[in-house]
Amino acid sequence: MVIDTLTVKDFRNYAAQTVRFSTGLNVLAGANAQGKTNLLEAVYLCCVGRSPRTVRDKDLIRRGREEGRVLTEAVKRDGKTAVEVRLSKSENKRIAVNSLPISRIGELMGAINCVFFSPDELKIVKESPSDRRRFLDTDICQMSKTYFYLLNRYNKILTQRNRLLKGGDGGALHSTLPVWDEQLADAGAKIIVTRRKFIDKLKPLVKQEHSFLTGGAEDIDLEYEGIAGADTAAAKANFLKALSDNMKRDVKHGFTGEGPHKDDFAVRLSGVDLRAFGSQGQQRTAALSLKLAELEIFAGEIGEYPVLLLDDVLSELDLSRQKQLLERIQKVQTILTCTHLELKPPEAVFYAVSEGTVEISSKKQR
Ligand SMILES: Nc1ncnc2c1ncn2[C@@H]1O[C@H](COP(=O)(O)OP(=O)(O)OP(=O)(O)O)[C@@H](O)[C@H]1O
Ligand SMILES: [Mg+2]
Repeated sequence: MVIDTLTVKDFRNYAAQTVRFSTGLNVLAGANAQGKTNLLEAVYLCCVGRSPRTVRDKDLIRRGREEGRVLTEAVKRDGKTAVEVRLSKSENKRIAVNSLPISRIGELMGAINCVFFSPDELKIVKESPSDRRRFLDTDICQMSKTYFYLLNRYNKILTQRNRLLKGGDGGALHSTLPVWDEQLADAGAKIIVTRRKFIDKLKPLVKQEHSFLTGGAEDIDLEYEGIAGADTAAAKANFLKALSDNMKRDVKHGFTGEGPHKDDFAVRLSGVDLRAFGSQGQQRTAALSLKLAELEIFAGEIGEYPVLLLDDVLSELDLSRQKQLLERIQKVQTILTCTHLELKPPEAVFYAVSEGTVEISSKKQR
């Protein structure tokens, strides 16, 4: 799929702006703090329903304004799709797909798909398990509404179970806990199995991407870490056992200590755990490989490539890796931000971003 136009109104530092993108490589260039990342954020908002940078939707509205708006128009294999997000200081955001308002954010999933990479994504490899879970969940949600609703259900049940645990070791606990355990294990097992399958698919693709970026110098591997179980029945049985084995501890802590909300995945380079021992450069390249592998997963699942959003990525790579990356992304519509670009791919369209305005600075040479 390709994004045809992006329109922002009173969004971040933009008053009103429409940008038409080319189907290939689009380079948004400009000095710091001009509004480059803001445009990627606007596209992401229409794909995922939230900002990659903040959970406070109101921060997205231009300072001093009451309302903001973003419209992303895409062309997919099966026709055009438009997603509009209306932001308001006084009420929740409203989203419409092809002019039809949606009542639940799950309905947005898959309308327009993107893969977003920014220097911040380094935390997929470097930071806490929750960052890696977010990586898995954001992706799987974009491909499956069912998974999105499943995660919501799981989190609701988990909240209920934790509330019960916090209430202490009373009679109500022992009679009610098994009911919640059953429900939690049921939803949890489906999440575990889906994530594990996703990692299995991701693994060979990440290996390929990583080998390409590093010229074959490093061998990367992934492994899901969590409740065991190859199928839902096995995962459910194991999860139920873990819940009952750890019941005393859970009651003491007032919190459920086992389950997909605690799971993680290991990233290893030639057998060494990258999470703990990787150099900054290795972690960055691994995170990029994960994102590039995501493109292929999407292509396999939905039959076309999502749009690739690359925020400030090239500045962090040496020239040979920059070249490799630019070659790699040729078959995907890419919107890339940078302050300056040493390599100037002739097939790219360049946009100058300055103080919340965007102008085409050079057209693709055909
Ligand atoms: N709600 C808002 N209203 C008005 N301006 C905002 C708002 N939120 C952010 N900004 C402004 O947007 C600018 C930052 O934009 P953005 O993050 O897109 O910069 P950038 O071009 O990507 O810069 P860099 O190269 O440093 O990453 C800042 O000047 C900031 O003050
Ligand atoms: Mg930026």
